[in-house]
Order: sequence, then C-alpha cells, then structure tokens
Amino acid sequence: MGVFDGLATGYDRGMLPLELAFLRGLRRRAFPPVGGRVLELGVGTGANLPLYGPGAQVVAAELSGPMLAQATRRRTRATVRPVQADVEALPFPSDHFDAVTGSLLFCSVKHPARGLAEAWRVLAPGGRLVLVEHTRGNGLGGWLTDLFHPLWCAISRECHLNRETVRTVSEVGFRLVRVEEKLLGIFRLIEGEKG
Ligand SMILES: C[S@@+](CC[C@H](N)C(=O)[O-])C[C@H]1O[C@@H](n2cnc3c(N)ncnc32)[C@H](O)[C@@H]1O
Repeated sequence: MGVFDGLATGYDRGMLPLELAFLRGLRRRAFPPVGGRVLELGVGTGANLPLYGPGAQVVAAELSGPMLAQATRRRTRATVRPVQADVEALPFPSDHFDAVTGSLLFCSVKHPARGLAEAWRVLAPGGRLVLVEHTRGNGLGGWLTDLFHPLWCAISRECHLNRETVRTVSEVGFRLVRVEEKLLGIFRLIEGEKG
C-alpha cells in the first residue's frame, strides 16, 4: 500500500489550513485558463478539477487508487476521465495533449526528471506545462527547506522539501514562460512551453 492510499479520506481536511492561507489562490491563478485536451498528473483528490472550464477535456492521472476514487467525486464543469497511471511511464501517445498540469506532485515522484520528460513527450508542440509545486526555497527559504528536509522526508516517506523543480523543468526541454514565488520561493507556480 502506498503512502497516499492511506491518506486519501483525510487529505482534504489536512490540507485545509494551507489551502485557505494561500494554496487555493495559487491554484486559481494557475489552472482556470487551461483548456482543450488536458492531462492532469497526480490529480490526488481532485482539488484542481473545479477550476477547469467547460471547454476542458481532462484526463486525470493518478498512481493511488483511493486518491483517484476521491477525485471522481469532485464537481467540475470539465469532462474528466480518471486513469490510474504512473507519471514516469505514461500510457498516452506522444504530442497528444494541449496542456499538462499538476500540483504538489514532483516533491513525491521518485524520479522527477523522468516524470517531467514524460510530460514533455505527451504534450503537443507549443503545449503548456502548468504546475503548482513546493520546492527548495530562495535564501532563507533554501536554508529552511534544506534544514527540515531530512526530518520531513523520514516522516512523510515520499515527500522531498528541497527539490529544484524549476531547474528540472528547464533541463528536460521546456522553455520557462512564468515562475511565481510564494513564501520565500517554497511554493511556486511554474509554467513552461514545449517549443
Ligand atoms: C501531495 S499529493 C497532491 C495531490 C493533488 N495534486 C493536490 O494538489 O492536492 C501527491 C499526489 O501525487 C501522487 N503521485 C505520487 N507519485 C506519483 C506517480 N509516480 N505517478 C502518479 N501519481 C503520483 C500521489 O499518489 C498523490 O495523490
């Protein structure tokens, strides 16, 4: 059983303080403009699904069956197809989606570069990658995320506090078009384009 299988029913309640503090605002800036054929990676309990418009056909990919089951209960105006899949080996053709999205995912994926390379592969040329992630912070934020990373990683088992996700997005081939930072860069909205 994976870590998130056991967290599925309490996940939304546990996240509520962060959501109310700033996460919901970041999600609202990131996902409503996304439309067309969308692949959301690591959809979890579906926190972003209500934010897509009626023009979005969303494939909601997620490793954990119990998390995906929660996501199927979300109200949304978009058309949503849930798929149990690993972001490191996506069961979709190349150059297929208009947008790939995700949030709070690449902190816990085992090999983030592999997952991001898969996102690049399945995106159509000119398509957008839109992520909200927690990452290694800047300055004091970097010091704090490095300091607490070993303890947090031991407690959570899967979540890394100090991943350099912006750099990895760029290294797999995306052109960065927007990076917004919150809380000393510990949370970021990251947008990249497949050229
Ligand atoms: C912290 S939760 C975030 C859920 C949701 N995206 C959100 O913003 O609330 C991380 C999610 O990523 C999923 N996940 C982790 N590794 C994955 C992988 N390799 N492939 C697909 N999903 C994965 C977990 O099962 C979990 O649901």
